[in-house]
Amino acid sequence: MTSRRVLITAALPYANNHPHLGHIAGVYLPADTYNRYLRLVGVETIFICGSDDHGVPITISAQKENSTPREVVHRYRSIQEQGFSALGISFDHYSGTSTCEGHQELAQEFFLKIRDRGDIEEKVTDQFRCTDCDMFLPDRYVEGDCPLCGASDARGDQCDACGGAFEQDLLIKPRCVNCGSNPQLTSTRHWFFRLDRYEERLEEWLESREGWRDNVRNFSRGIVREGLPARSITRDLEWGVPVPLEEAKDKVLYVWFDAPIGYISFTREMFRARGQEDEWRSWWSDEDVEIVHFLGKDNIIFHAVIWPSMLLGHGDFRLPTSIPANEYLNFKGEKFSKSKGVGVTAQQILEQFDADRVRYYLTAIAPEGKDSSFTWEDFIQRNNDELSDVVGNFAHRVLTFTVKNFETKVPAGVEDSPFLEEVLSVVSEAREQWSKSFDRQRFREALDRVVTLARHGNRIFDAAEPWKSRKVDLERCGADLAALLELVHAVSLLLLPFLPVSANKLAATFSDATADPETAVMKLGTEHLLQPGALLNPPGILYPRLELLDDEEEGPAS
Ligand code: 2FM
Ligand code: ZN
Repeated sequence: MTSRRVLITAALPYANNHPHLGHIAGVYLPADTYNRYLRLVGVETIFICGSDDHGVPITISAQKENSTPREVVHRYRSIQEQGFSALGISFDHYSGTSTCEGHQELAQEFFLKIRDRGDIEEKVTDQFRCTDCDMFLPDRYVEGDCPLCGASDARGDQCDACGGAFEQDLLIKPRCVNCGSNPQLTSTRHWFFRLDRYEERLEEWLESREGWRDNVRNFSRGIVREGLPARSITRDLEWGVPVPLEEAKDKVLYVWFDAPIGYISFTREMFRARGQEDEWRSWWSDEDVEIVHFLGKDNIIFHAVIWPSMLLGHGDFRLPTSIPANEYLNFKGEKFSKSKGVGVTAQQILEQFDADRVRYYLTAIAPEGKDSSFTWEDFIQRNNDELSDVVGNFAHRVLTFTVKNFETKVPAGVEDSPFLEEVLSVVSEAREQWSKSFDRQRFREALDRVVTLARHGNRIFDAAEPWKSRKVDLERCGADLAALLELVHAVSLLLLPFLPVSANKLAATFSDATADPETAVMKLGTEHLLQPGALLNPPGILYPRLELLDDEEEGPAS
């Protein structure tokens, strides 16, 4: 039997901003948590990401900073890598679309293969061009007055104020968002991907997807059913993957065409760097591999409609198995946005708090089914009420009691504790539910299972009253403590995917039993796992309560 293999990707961040908590909560943290879970239960995984380097946003950032796209990419890539790694988000490979060996060639190969099938067509269209910026402007870089309602901030060919759509040449007083000057409609030739030719296969494929989140499946099916217009996949820009045609020398592939191909080219680069020349291919073409793309909801159409069409058009690679897309994390009622200065960056919060505190809260409020909100007050409260008062407190009570009364060793006689059966039963239930939640990609629910298990622990500790039995029947007290230690051990293992640093410290208390966490997790709840007499290595207080803030609005005082 071949073992299960899962290839996990996280949406490639544009290489021109600091990762903020909205990105982290919606994409990178769930992907990392899922990866850690799978590895813990013995699944072979690879976890791939890197920066999305091309396109207009990076070009404009470079213009604004008076530098080059390459410099911008270089600088932000290391900022992003540092942010991810400080949060314990640990990719097997982090590359970038402008530097990855072979990325350009693979993107060109996609273009040519799809074109050879006759699914790419050429058209001449009119587009706004700014002479001052010396570039064609995509829709979101042109603003003007709406020809329908007169609102002053209509964009390109649509107006958010009235919801109307119109031909670009009707936009009144168009202006370049970048420099404010008046762009001219200019005709230019582009290459369009005939998505209509993929509609039937996409519909059938989406129909057959089971266990997908409703937001992803229903939304994509709706889009396919409405009919898919041809999409332009080339741009008049210098920065990007050159279009591999003589007649398109000064054009590049649209950034959204080359970006997802990075998932494949980065995989190939990683294996080649390991000296495994052809290993990448099996991850992208073997039937048994599950391909899971994590992303935010604004990326659904690209991953569930356009990317699968590209994969079908290329022909050598498999379609995604699942696309767990999240809704948005909001801050003070608005979507996190670096450009608008809304929200908190990874770097800012890590100046004040440990990564595991951030991971805990962002998973506890993960925007899985609907948008959720980050507030500083709630951050402090959830950490204190749950992580400190339930999880930390439970572990601390049991461990300090063992230190004081049983020489920091697992007491003997666990079989004689009347609480053992209940302990094994709550542990086995938690373990099972935890796995089910993970397998359904409900990370918030999976975390809640662990906190609930610790709540059971506190309840059983209170019922066992070891502070009383210690005085009258030390053996019985030891037996109950040994049962409770089993529960602490279970909590530490089940927390590992969520809180890698602190859960590892807690698990290290039981170094004998957790030397092989994979086997230990499998056995949880089936029998008692700790050896009587084994020396413990308690971590001290893991989750001290956090300070309430004076001013929630401004974030933690420095
Ligand atoms: O929305 C974004 O931030 C894009 N850079 C995501 C790209 S995902 C992928 F396809 F590479
Ligand atoms: Zn301009």
